[in-house]
Amino acid sequence: MSEPASSLPFLQARPMREADLDAVLRIEEDAYPYPWSRGIFADCLKVGYQCRVYEKEGEIVGYSVHSTAAGEGHLLNLCVAPQHQSQGHGRRMLRKVMAEMREQGADTLFLEVRLSNKAAQALYESEGFNEVGRRFDYYPAAGGREDALVYACALAGST
Ligand SMILES: CC(C)(COP(=O)(O)OP(=O)(O)OC[C@H]1O[C@@H](n2cnc3c(N)ncnc32)[C@H](O)[C@@H]1OP(=O)(O)O)[C@@H](O)C(=O)NCCC(=O)NCCS
Repeated sequence: MSEPASSLPFLQARPMREADLDAVLRIEEDAYPYPWSRGIFADCLKVGYQCRVYEKEGEIVGYSVHSTAAGEGHLLNLCVAPQHQSQGHGRRMLRKVMAEMREQGADTLFLEVRLSNKAAQALYESEGFNEVGRRFDYYPAAGGREDALVYACALAGST
């Protein structure tokens, strides 16, 4: 496991609002080759998924979207603006999501990650996730489709 969260830079987490979507979409479109649309974020807010933004001095640096139901958590999006990446923010945000899910009674956290997304895989693996499956042709990709790896992490009893 990497450095303790307490040594990482401080970000202020708060619920995402409709009014944040312009800023969130700018980051999403910068960070992903196949970004979510405004409609997907709006639907996540509407259905009550837990949507968070993480700010530094009033600027949105990243965001997360997750859901928790029947003892299972699902992390749907975790993103740090490219100019703020590799400074420990993603790890700190992930830990916050995991702590929140644990408080909500989830035993296990699941997520999908692109086969080619080695940075995200390294983060998840260093936080205790294991690959538990694969969804073939799950994502759009240049010249075709790309598989998703399904990762899971036990939450119950962990710190
Ligand atoms: C994946 C992501 C959230 C990581 O956030 P981050 O703030 O850049 O990551 P951190 O600085 O907290 O680094 C955490 C770990 O991630 C891994 N990592 C981060 N950037 C990496 C890179 N460029 N190459 C390889 N590993 C990397 C490392 O394991 C790192 O730990 P270390 O610093 O001890 O080596 C961020 O790169 C991102 O938003 N990417 C675009 C969106 C995305 O792919 N989200 C995940 C979808 S499943």
